[in-house]
Amino acid sequence: RLGWDLYLRETIDSTNAEALRLLQSGVLAPFVVLAEGQTEGRGRRGREWASPPAQNVYYTLALKVSNGIQGLSGLSLVVGLAVLDALRRSGVEGVGLKWPNDVYADDRKIAGILIELNGDPADLCHVIIGIGVNVNMGPNALSIGQPWTTMREQTGRLASRADLTHFLSESLYRYIGRHSREGFSSLREEWEANNIWHGRSCVLSTGAQQIKGLMTGIDEQGALCLWIEGRGELRFSGGELSLRLD
Ligand code: ATP
Ligand code: BTN
Repeated sequence: RLGWDLYLRETIDSTNAEALRLLQSGVLAPFVVLAEGQTEGRGRRGREWASPPAQNVYYTLALKVSNGIQGLSGLSLVVGLAVLDALRRSGVEGVGLKWPNDVYADDRKIAGILIELNGDPADLCHVIIGIGVNVNMGPNALSIGQPWTTMREQTGRLASRADLTHFLSESLYRYIGRHSREGFSSLREEWEANNIWHGRSCVLSTGAQQIKGLMTGIDEQGALCLWIEGRGELRFSGGELSLRLD
């Protein structure tokens, strides 16, 4: 028994926005919000997340942060591991992680993760973990500005949204529990084993600049390690960073 309350919605703006409203109206975390569809599904950096109704999973978990903001270091990578585990348990093969927390299958994006904080980090705060998984979305459904895939395409059959949702909750419970008990360093090796771009030449955008380097891995906190010609190995962390292949 996870003991997470479940809030089911038809089409709403965004499950992350709904979780925030529930917290503000006094609902106690932990809880999960699920929606059939989203009209304002959001990605990182204000981008849009394509969210047609009845075909995919739009899932948000709201949790109380108990061990302080520093306990959140590596959380987004850990959530990536949990999503990967849930996909594998649903029978999807060939999946991997793109730093910091995109889930890829066959070099295309199959799931995205958006983590938001609510409240005063020095005091009581909540973390809102939004997960979108492409389950059965059809190829002509929408125009998405980058390569994407679905569970259906990867397995060759319709996938069960109910099963995936169940696996997601179980995997999140396990991985987040381990992260808060043992810290990110205990999960670093598992993350590295699923790093799809290990050893590849990448470009990191920081907003202001583009930095070219070889991805050597991640450190004990989950920061990206790039080997840069003439500068050696440098580490990068923070929410506004975006990595692509060179
Ligand atoms: P990064 O975050 O590292 O820059 P990214 O380029 O994937 O990676 P994000 O902001 O994380 O960018 O994700 C949002 C992007 O995902 C959108 O700009 C769009 O191109 C793409 N996208 C939107 N909806 C979907 C979807 N349902 N499945 C796959 N990709 C999507
Ligand atoms: C990304 O890759 O940019 C993150 C996409 C996150 C999408 C999910 S769908 C459920 C939750 N509600 C949202 O509005 N966004 C997240």
